[in-house]
Amino acid sequence: MKKILYVAGEALPFASSGGLGDVIGSLPQALASEEGNDIRVMMPLYSKIESKYRKKFEFVCEKYINLSWRRQYCGVYKYNHKGVTFYYLDNEYYFKRDKLYGEYDDAERFAFFCRACLEILPELDFFPDILHAHDWHAALSVIYLKRCYAVLDERYKDIKSVFTIHNIQYQGQYDFSILGDVFGLMDSDREIVEYGNCINLLKGAIVCADKVSTVSPTYAKEILSPKFSHGLDNVLNMFSYKLSGILNGIDRDYYNPSKDKEIFANFSSRNMSGKEVCKSELQKMLGLPQRDVPMIAVISRRVSHNGLDLVMLAGDDILKDDVQLVVLGQGDNSYEQYFVKLAERYPDKCRALITYNRDLSKQIYSAADVFLMPSKSEPCGLAQMISSRYGAVPVIHETGGLYDSIKDIGCEGGGNGFTFAAYSAYDMLNSVKRACAFYNSDREGYRKLQKKVMLVDFSWKQSAKSYIDLYNQL
Ligand code: GLC
Repeated sequence: MKKILYVAGEALPFASSGGLGDVIGSLPQALASEEGNDIRVMMPLYSKIESKYRKKFEFVCEKYINLSWRRQYCGVYKYNHKGVTFYYLDNEYYFKRDKLYGEYDDAERFAFFCRACLEILPELDFFPDILHAHDWHAALSVIYLKRCYAVLDERYKDIKSVFTIHNIQYQGQYDFSILGDVFGLMDSDREIVEYGNCINLLKGAIVCADKVSTVSPTYAKEILSPKFSHGLDNVLNMFSYKLSGILNGIDRDYYNPSKDKEIFANFSSRNMSGKEVCKSELQKMLGLPQRDVPMIAVISRRVSHNGLDLVMLAGDDILKDDVQLVVLGQGDNSYEQYFVKLAERYPDKCRALITYNRDLSKQIYSAADVFLMPSKSEPCGLAQMISSRYGAVPVIHETGGLYDSIKDIGCEGGGNGFTFAAYSAYDMLNSVKRACAFYNSDREGYRKLQKKVMLVDFSWKQSAKSYIDLYNQL
């Protein structure tokens, strides 16, 4: 039996801002159920966590945490969620905020969190075999372990660390002035975290971790090159012997069209009639004509690496055909404006929903025939897996985890989607048109493809094994 501690800034169903929350909400469970491991997760006790969960949390202990010259309260709560022990670290000064991240003092908030994660281990009488930290918010836990705790305290000496990069774009970069004052690191630690003339927490974690992983094999290769590395390719090449890529999975119980209560009608690959109901009910809800035309969905945070610039270039061309386009998500203003205007230009064909809501996203996945995900880069991507589960066939750009999970129907043995290799609006448009033409010309064939796509196994089963192998190497 292995003892594994996950340190992360978010986990579903408690708090999430994106794919990281999905992963921390499902991978630990998959590991716990596979081998009877002792898997525990630590995350901040955000005030945003709904009271229906909070009221179940049990107080464990409290401790004052030293962070440079500060001494801050940390309350510890716990809750067993599907076989995994979650700990929630409480400090209202740091975590009673509107947002999970993006606050002016994120550096201090997450330094506190990372220190507290290590400080409370004696109180919990839990010293893990592996500390598995995720993204820059948790990077300091790996750095503190290596530079402070393992050196000064016998009990921490044997803890090995894994650091997973979910998106290399976000690195935790700060001015050197906070090295000692906020992070409580020494001048001798400076070279560990120094990169590009500032503190770079992701770089520090890459240096300090025993293993570094990312969320797909292709992304693990891509980030070794400057085109994808956001400046970190030198460091990653130096430590490439530590690096591997393991494809994420999804929680197949949470995303289950045959049981979901949030969608208009249930369906499965054996009986697809519910999917038609989902489509016509969504059309009704959005005020679109209730017609049988290919429905294309885009569900995405509106940020540039998600490939929306291509959709902006091709929007009018897509909508020239007899199709419907439903766009869900919020983000950069320029994208939002574009889609709102597009919907105004095509009132019978297009809707832009500038919001994000998980139930609504499920209603769209379950209604759509085509799911467009043209990301410029994509560490793993979960939406293409979720859309598959709901029978919305993905159209993807061949990059990162999209490339690892979706193959073109024209490939040997037949694929599970429509793909394009060059990052170009023309090539994307061509793939969207291929999908719609297939839908229009051979409805039976398209149904078969939808059923096939729904049956692809994007569970954690295989990937959980790969993580166990990684832990075993340590
Ligand atoms: C980040 C990545 C996404 C990945 C997710 C979970 O959000 O951008 O590709 O699926 O993390 O690992």
